[in-house]
Amino acid sequence: MKPLYLVANWKSNKTVSESIAWVQALGAMMGKSALPTDCAVVVCPPYTALVAVNEEITRLMLPVGVGAQDVSRFPHGAYTGEINSTMLRGIARYVIIGHSERRKHFSEDDTVLAEKVSRAKTDGLNVIYCVENENASVPSQVDLVAYEPVSAIGTGNALDADAADAICGMLSQKNGNVPVLYGGSVTEENCFEYLGKPNIHGALIGGAGLDANRFFQLIRTFGSL
Ligand code: PGA
Repeated sequence: MKPLYLVANWKSNKTVSESIAWVQALGAMMGKSALPTDCAVVVCPPYTALVAVNEEITRLMLPVGVGAQDVSRFPHGAYTGEINSTMLRGIARYVIIGHSERRKHFSEDDTVLAEKVSRAKTDGLNVIYCVENENASVPSQVDLVAYEPVSAIGTGNALDADAADAICGMLSQKNGNVPVLYGGSVTEENCFEYLGKPNIHGALIGGAGLDANRFFQLIRTFGSL
């Protein structure tokens, strides 16, 4: 079976206690179940909750990876407000870079994003690199690409699964066969349509990942929980 990923991106949501409650609720539903082979689940909380979420996942021994939603393009040093990739050691194994909201609200362009990828790889993070279309440039070191058409993000207008499959296939082919996820209004109702496509290696999930019950239903799409 192809490797499959489900990545929850909480964006700018949840206090620390809400984050811990989400992990505990998910843990109660997952019990001791293992994920199917080659299936990975990742949660990307806000920075303020990253340590607490990682500790709770470790304590409960959940098969869930932890990721950051962004990382500094700078190394450690005099960069007030920045979280650099070295600081993520022992806390997060993944990082999302280039989400369309970062590009739009924080003017992050390809040059800045390439610097972030390079820093993240220096510290061994698995990079999930977001792009908005098939023509986007993708740094060669990224581990996963997430194709997210802006019109589908947070709108309920998910792209048709066949169209998403075609574009994910193009992106993968153009970028050294990197696994490509689809993102944009993926829910527990439509997720299986995407995971079943040959060129889609999983989903990046915003809104539906905020609720532990819904995220558990999404994980069940993998098939054997
Ligand atoms: P959405 O967000 O699932 O709420 O559409 C996806 C994303 O922004 O990654």
